[in-house]
Amino acid sequence: MYKIESKIKYAEGLYGIWVDAQYVAEKVEPGQFVMVMTHEKGERIPLTIADYDRSGKKIFLVFLVAGKSTAQLADMNEGDELFSLVGPLGKQSEIENYGRVVCVGGGTGIAAIHPIARSLKEAGNEVISIIGAKNKGLIFMEEDIRKVSDKVIVTTDDGSYGRKGFVTDALKDLLDNDEEEDIARVWAVGPAIMMKNVALLTRGYNVKTIVSLNAIMVDATGMCGTCRVTVGEETKLTCVDGPEFDGHLVDWSEFMNRLMRYKPQEKIAMDLYMKRRQ
Ligand code: NAD
Ligand code: FES
Repeated sequence: MYKIESKIKYAEGLYGIWVDAQYVAEKVEPGQFVMVMTHEKGERIPLTIADYDRSGKKIFLVFLVAGKSTAQLADMNEGDELFSLVGPLGKQSEIENYGRVVCVGGGTGIAAIHPIARSLKEAGNEVISIIGAKNKGLIFMEEDIRKVSDKVIVTTDDGSYGRKGFVTDALKDLLDNDEEEDIARVWAVGPAIMMKNVALLTRGYNVKTIVSLNAIMVDATGMCGTCRVTVGEETKLTCVDGPEFDGHLVDWSEFMNRLMRYKPQEKIAMDLYMKRRQ
């Protein structure tokens, strides 16, 4: 169960794994995530599903080493089995034929935007995708994104590939040149600051924007309250009410503050793990 069938190293600390997960592969829909544990005493890691193969009974997950638990996941290899994998969790993306849509994926968020863009395309939308990363080496799944998009714009912060700048620069140009004002909806997945800035930008153009919040989670079943966020002055639980919300209604300062609250403990755990590994 939950065997890692294959592992791809995209860049230092950036990996993709195909995992044997029959029940999740049968049911998963775009926008949903799984909780992974590498071993019995491990932390539960929420990971958005990047792809799935229903007949092959497997799912594809992409992760960036950001702390001890993702470092432990990166240390696992083909043939190893995850201790547990629970899902699919969260609500699926609201896929309809909106007309013209823009899918924005930043950093590891490129993975999560892929099944959303594919379903939007299958539903008859014209899909423009913007994918961005710090540099060329951190752009991944570009071909997969191209297959499900009518147009793809690639950005890198340092200009080593595609257009130099942030994904928001490319999005602003699209919105400015949208003379017929027919961009019906924007999806954005990536670091919180990127999703916040996408939402701030699109608000000025009155384009509805859906973001996928990467809140800290513990149980992921709506019981602990760890993942709570304020959306339109209501308290919501990212794991069961989300992870997708209207970006114009998210209380971004609260969300970003809550993301930072275990940083000192995360650093201690990572330092200890790296010392033990040596
Ligand atoms: P990163 O810091 O490399 O940023 C990726 C891209 O986001 C940049 O290339 C840029 O285009 C854009 N960006 C960054 N800062 C910006 C700013 N201030 N304004 C506008 N755009 C900006 O990203 P990373 O290191 O790959 O981190 C990925 C993050 O995405 C992690 O925090 C992870 O938790 C999160 N994530 C979220 C989900 C989700 O479902 N919400 C899924 C995967 C990853
Ligand atoms: Fe516990 Fe969402 S992670 S309520």
